[in-house]
Amino acid sequence: MISAEQNDTMTRVGPGTPAGALLRRYWQPVALSDELAGPRPVRPVQLMGQHFVLFRDENGQLGLLDRDCPHRGADLAFGRLEHGGLRCPFHGWLFDVKGNCLQTPAEPVGSKLCSRIKQAAYPVVERAGTIFAYIGDGEPPAFPDFDCFVAPDTHVFAFKGLFECNWLQALEVGMDPAHASYLHRFFKDADTSASYGKQFRGASADSEMPITQVLREFERPDIAVEPTDYGLRLTALRQLSESKTHVRVTNVVFPQAFVIPMSAEMTISQWHVPVDDTHCYWYAIFTSFAGPVDKQQMREQRLQLYELPDYTSRKNKRNHYGYNVDEQLTETYTGMGDDINVHDQWAIESQGPIQNRTREHLGSTDKGIIAYRRMLVKAIDATRAGEAVPMLPDAAQAAALTGPASIDGVSAAAAVDGYWQRADQARRMQCDWARARLDR
Ligand code: FES
Ligand SMILES: [Fe+2]
Repeated sequence: MISAEQNDTMTRVGPGTPAGALLRRYWQPVALSDELAGPRPVRPVQLMGQHFVLFRDENGQLGLLDRDCPHRGADLAFGRLEHGGLRCPFHGWLFDVKGNCLQTPAEPVGSKLCSRIKQAAYPVVERAGTIFAYIGDGEPPAFPDFDCFVAPDTHVFAFKGLFECNWLQALEVGMDPAHASYLHRFFKDADTSASYGKQFRGASADSEMPITQVLREFERPDIAVEPTDYGLRLTALRQLSESKTHVRVTNVVFPQAFVIPMSAEMTISQWHVPVDDTHCYWYAIFTSFAGPVDKQQMREQRLQLYELPDYTSRKNKRNHYGYNVDEQLTETYTGMGDDINVHDQWAIESQGPIQNRTREHLGSTDKGIIAYRRMLVKAIDATRAGEAVPMLPDAAQAAALTGPASIDGVSAAAAVDGYWQRADQARRMQCDWARARLDR
């Protein structure tokens, strides 16, 4: 049983909070590269209750600054992008990507005021169509050599969406291996050849059986959880027959991401990033082990649900997530349409702005969540004590962090042990970018 105090400690991430101090030790996704496309690459960013402005200067350099102008606090997100920086429209003070004040044009000629002004600036890097920022103290960790970061740009696609609730319950829904048999149940199987870009709509590797049938008919997975150097590996087994076992391997990458299979050829690496305590963005990088990703199709599919500029869902609590009683009786378990992102969004948001974990009753399918919370609390305590926490690699350690293997496939029942390792190896051998790395 979680106390109200423990729940607060795990979920609240504003400046000065224990979990906030932990999450500030990691790179956090703050925007898609797509959001800086167009004639004026400037975006406001809210991360863990703090306000920033993100911009790309005329030389292509990215900057992330505190959003309030150090003169009298006007909003730099409305700034003018010119003369090598971002200029406040109130009195024209100009700042570069490092936060240096370059000009205070209303001051007398020869004024030295600029030299005493420095706006807080934070490291920013662009990886796989996603812009990551580091707002913690000291040096940021190195980026791991995970598949989503080493695949060529042609083989990755990034997208995001807003959840109107706390980040932790979003992560806890994503890492749950049992819910897919219920929340994402379809009463009829669709043509798996039309499943491109969609999760839980194709066929598993080494199988013709639609995943919708596997999830529907085999609803009691045997779940195992193992600690790894990056977080946790979860294995869910579904015994399909005497001779066949469905194997699904998913991962938690500490502290806030999961890496899961989307289809036989694509994986999803997804972060859950607090905007504040009661809103979060999911940021996903889809990585292809087959041909290049059809980015246009992937984007169009997702823009049917998500509305720009803030990537808010068109289906939400204000319109009951599109709930339809006839559909719930005959087509889907939720009655909320075919898009599984809506099902997840309902499961996540309907727990409340911050799930009240003092009222929950965990079962055996929640063993991954229990293991994750232990890691989280231990790392929060270690941060308070100034001690080491997982997943802050140096360059050498980062190069050793690969994969993680995310597999959805059907194994011979007698050869389940080692199946995911063999399936992962086989997929890498058939993939140019992944094979090139195996050969190194
Ligand atoms: S408030 Fe920004 S220049 Fe005056
Ligand atoms: Fe789900």
